[in-house]
Amino acid sequence: MPYILIYYDVVEPLIKTDNPALPEPDDEAKKRSRLLLQSIKKECDRAGGRIRFSEFMNIALYQPGLGYYSGGLQKFGEHGDFITAPEVSPLFGQCLAGQVAEVFQNIREVSGEKLFVIEFGAGSGVLAVDVLLQLEQLDALPEKYLILELSAELQNRQQETIKHKAPHLYERVQWLQQLPDDVSNAVVIANEVLVAMPVECFRINGEANEALMVSLVDDKPVSAYVPDSKLDDRIKSIQQRSEIELADGYRSEINPAIAGWLAALEDKIKRAVILLIDYGYNEKEYYHSDRSEGTLMCYYRHKAHGDYFWWPGLQDITAFVNFTDVAYSAVDAGLDMAGYTTQAAFLLANGISDLHASQVTDEVQQQIKLSQQIKTLTLPSEMGDRFKVMALTKNYDEPLKGFSMLDLSNRL
Ligand SMILES: C[S@@+](CC[C@H](N)C(=O)[O-])C[C@H]1O[C@@H](n2cnc3c(N)ncnc32)[C@H](O)[C@@H]1O
Repeated sequence: MPYILIYYDVVEPLIKTDNPALPEPDDEAKKRSRLLLQSIKKECDRAGGRIRFSEFMNIALYQPGLGYYSGGLQKFGEHGDFITAPEVSPLFGQCLAGQVAEVFQNIREVSGEKLFVIEFGAGSGVLAVDVLLQLEQLDALPEKYLILELSAELQNRQQETIKHKAPHLYERVQWLQQLPDDVSNAVVIANEVLVAMPVECFRINGEANEALMVSLVDDKPVSAYVPDSKLDDRIKSIQQRSEIELADGYRSEINPAIAGWLAALEDKIKRAVILLIDYGYNEKEYYHSDRSEGTLMCYYRHKAHGDYFWWPGLQDITAFVNFTDVAYSAVDAGLDMAGYTTQAAFLLANGISDLHASQVTDEVQQQIKLSQQIKTLTLPSEMGDRFKVMALTKNYDEPLKGFSMLDLSNRL
């Protein structure tokens, strides 16, 4: 686990220019962060003084033009703040395409209707390129590849990536602001999207659960836990269904948006296979007594830390996924749980070894690069175990090959 700072009731104020662990942002970036702080202040004033942590996180990540994902910062890759699986290797998207092609083939056998891919939060656009190029190879291109992206800046970047790397498929890609009403059959892909959803932070305190609230003191953000009953039912049902006893003082997170997000997917698509790939745990592991300070993490220039007030808008803020909660919310929404496995098992079952073998050339540098990519994607010490893949389905009962090697559904 990366390093997490201890949370205090009142967290140290912003503008820690002397933080030695993190590189110093430039003046332009700091100016933008101060502007974002004004938006946070406005929201606090509007709310009578303080906002929930999830509201702060939403502004810090998604405020148009200024939030981390909505501004123009370099986020992905070596020169950004973190690396996601599609940025590691095209093999990741090629394996996903294999799973999509299998679903498309099965649906084609029972329906002549059009087939779509819907990708949420497409990042730099590189996953869309890899999936589309591989689907083309497999003669399984979708009618349209639809991208739902909250950030206008990322949308522009995705358009540039696809124009540059797969220009002949550009017309097949369409960007949407919300789920379409007219999609009957779709495979939905969301890689590292749930971890980017704003969370509520709570603390157990005897009779009254507490929620983390954010306010501004002398124009600097501070946070404090206050008694709050809004999460009582969620916390109670987590403890009951997973037989967990959360001790006094225990701190963690809950994703308040997941149920609504899944219900919207269930509502809009007639037949769907939804593939969620993210770092996370089942509920018992998520709320393990040893993880008593939660899973919230911030990333800046490949350094992980826990200071969520460090230059808002310039760093990523993220929390691990509670996959048990995702499964319960999905079933409540009317979806079926079709599989849960590690990223390594999913990629191996979708033929990453064969894909690798087919791409190896005599060039030593290329061989080293490819085997390094496979290691990063599949080794337990890298992304292989920490990242999980969950499949949710609607009106689709065929087995999914990605879960044929290892299905951990019974551990949820
Ligand atoms: C960590 S990045 C992952 C990007 C990309 N999928 C990848 O793997 O490189 C998180 C992405 O999720 C997007 N996102 C978060 N919540 C979303 C939502 N509710 N709908 C659509 N996109 C969302 C963000 O805008 C961002 O593009």
